[in-house]
Amino acid sequence: MAVYLNEVSRTFGEYLLIPGYSSVECIPANVSLQTPLVKFKKGNKSPMSLKIPMTSAIMQSVSDDTMAISLAKEGGLSFIYGSQSIESQAQMVARVKSYRAGFVVSDSNISPEGTLDELLMLKKKTNHSTVAVTIDGSSRGKLVGIITSRDYRVSRMTLDTKVKDFMTPFEEIICGNKDTTLKEANNIIWEHKLNCLPIIDDEQRLISMVFRKDYNTNKKNENELIDESKRYMVGAGINTRDYAERIPALLQAGVDVLCIDSSEGFTEWQKIVLEYVRKNYGDTVKIGAGNIVDKEGFRFLAESGADFVKVGIGGGAICITREQKGIGRGQATALIEVAKARDEYFNETGIYVPICSDGGTVHDYHITLALAMGADFLMLGRYFARFDESPTKKVNINGNYMKEYWGEGSTRAKNWQRYDLGGDEKLSFEEGVDSFVPYAGSLEDNVGLSLSIVRSTMCNCGYLTISELQKNAKITLVSSTSIVEGSAHDVLLKDSRQIL
Ligand code: IMP
Repeated sequence: MAVYLNEVSRTFGEYLLIPGYSSVECIPANVSLQTPLVKFKKGNKSPMSLKIPMTSAIMQSVSDDTMAISLAKEGGLSFIYGSQSIESQAQMVARVKSYRAGFVVSDSNISPEGTLDELLMLKKKTNHSTVAVTIDGSSRGKLVGIITSRDYRVSRMTLDTKVKDFMTPFEEIICGNKDTTLKEANNIIWEHKLNCLPIIDDEQRLISMVFRKDYNTNKKNENELIDESKRYMVGAGINTRDYAERIPALLQAGVDVLCIDSSEGFTEWQKIVLEYVRKNYGDTVKIGAGNIVDKEGFRFLAESGADFVKVGIGGGAICITREQKGIGRGQATALIEVAKARDEYFNETGIYVPICSDGGTVHDYHITLALAMGADFLMLGRYFARFDESPTKKVNINGNYMKEYWGEGSTRAKNWQRYDLGGDEKLSFEEGVDSFVPYAGSLEDNVGLSLSIVRSTMCNCGYLTISELQKNAKITLVSSTSIVEGSAHDVLLKDSRQIL
């Protein structure tokens, strides 16, 4: 006979947090949102943490290199989508790893044989006041000088004067090298009152420039998620088919962490991939697995060697899995059970395997609730798809700006590896839709606002860290009547804002 669970499958919108005592120290500025990304042993720290508990979904319409750079700037992590060729996914990873915030490839360059006339035309075109003089006039050529407006006077010189005759020559320029950090570069700029600092390699070739005017923007990103070499961190999705070719290419490109991307992860296929990674790379390669929605699924993946486990089936905004197949579980119920299984596993083995709540985060307060229910971090698709940085088109529909957002299981993405169960059959039905989401502006502004709500809620409850919140939060179920009471009610709104 079938097993009937004695539960109602519930989601975030059915719960509220109960505020608790807050001390005077309990203010948003003192909240740390640092959280473990991969497993660790009792008494140790996670070898890889996030500064904020947010990752962007392994989806074509969400996570490319632009998204990854913007999210890493804020302290989170993107998993670059795997439903593309190995080569292009590896290139995206490589672009994130080679990106250096504040280090700009010089796009205003001239050769020493160029003339004042050519220089003036270049400046008009690029609008830059500093021009690098490289031997071949390219952005990566050998640096031989710099020109700023202090180096020439149009009224006193003829237009055919050669650049080499009025530039500031290399011998008089202060430069940084490939190991110079952004902080060091900014210090040199301040100390020597420079407008910019060229960065060169051992052969004197120009690598990039750091500009004084970018200082404030650069200083803002203090929370950025960087590796030991100060490069932005990035993850990538893989599947259970071509992993033996994809993983080496992603590692070669510098990926920091992998995740097996599957709609249903309680399978031998995932175990095979995890064993492959352990056999070939030991613990040096970090890899998450999922998705599962119960304690059995968690234990299976944890015992198979997953570094973190992703929770959630059927809750995604573009997901029609529950409708098509009738499988899944309310995200809150799934998370609560898996968090308990994670804690039991920790008590038994001394190994903490972080869990990620994936899909179905609709309101900012759902982030705090998911953390309170035990999630170590979240994965979000719809949330990030709304921003400038997502890889999809912004369109105007009836006067409203929208961004496209489509599921990996839609015919548009054709990511059948995420859904099939092995064998040669190709999936013949969709599990996701192609849709629009309201455009919301920049990632930086939105993440900033969402997290200020999370921090403020944590303070209302009296907690300064995610782990305190997980251990002590008081959560209550709400009736449908009190959900109505929770938003504006019995008033006529003055603006045309809809209350959903
Ligand atoms: P969202 O944050 O609610 O938009 O959910 C994003 C999550 O939905 C992703 O991280 C995936 O786990 C899941 N997902 C992505 N594409 C599909 C699909 O086509 N069908 C079902 N689930 C999907």
